[in-house]
Amino acid sequence: MELIRSSDRPGHGAAVDFRRTTLRGIASSPLVRSCGSKGLLLDATAGLGGDSFLLAAAGFTVTSVERSPLVAAVLRDGLNRAAASKSLAAIVGRIELREGDACALIKATPNEWSVIYLDPMYPAKRGSALAAKPIRLVRGAVGPDSDSDSLFRAAAAAACARIVVKRPHHAPTLYPNPDLVFESKLARYDTYFREGKSLSEYARARHTHP
Ligand SMILES: C[S@@+](CC[C@H](N)C(=O)[O-])C[C@H]1O[C@@H](n2cnc3c(N)ncnc32)[C@H](O)[C@@H]1O
Repeated sequence: MELIRSSDRPGHGAAVDFRRTTLRGIASSPLVRSCGSKGLLLDATAGLGGDSFLLAAAGFTVTSVERSPLVAAVLRDGLNRAAASKSLAAIVGRIELREGDACALIKATPNEWSVIYLDPMYPAKRGSALAAKPIRLVRGAVGPDSDSDSLFRAAAAAACARIVVKRPHHAPTLYPNPDLVFESKLARYDTYFREGKSLSEYARARHTHP
């Protein structure tokens, strides 16, 4: 199964094939370091599951939520194929995919997660190099995720230990003053430690102690 534009030939879209993913150095990657110690992690913006897979390979137990039925179907297809593969089954066995809105799930299960990970779609920067084809196809299918602010607010009201937001280098923070920022070549991981505070307490604390 692949995500494809109607003008493209079959086989030239974006399919999920985890056999192609390189896992060397994953434990020390900015993605994994930003998410901290291994616990129950909610990937609230699953997309085609690349980050969920890397986090599961690093030992996290991952619940991946995707609200686009098209994108979720392509991801489920890739997960099913990986589950039938000897070398990948143990990794994808740590991923549970749920189709739906992550805001609603977080509000219904606020005490369940140790880490909430957000990678909302960000508009392409004018004049920048063309994004990789899978990203362009997902963006074409789902649009710009202009409600990512409310997703952050839902995460901040939950009892998780940390929230991690992946952003392109050129994008502003989704919420001011991350406690730590991990940088990779293509993205930053803005990391917020919750310490049990609600968003309003959190905002006040960040404001008082910038
Ligand atoms: C940039 S992509 C994520 C890419 C992903 N991290 C990966 O490695 O493939 C963002 C995805 O999040 C999904 N999304 C955005 N807001 C969401 C929400 N509130 N609930 C569920 N999915 C959401 C979008 O439909 C889109 O597929």
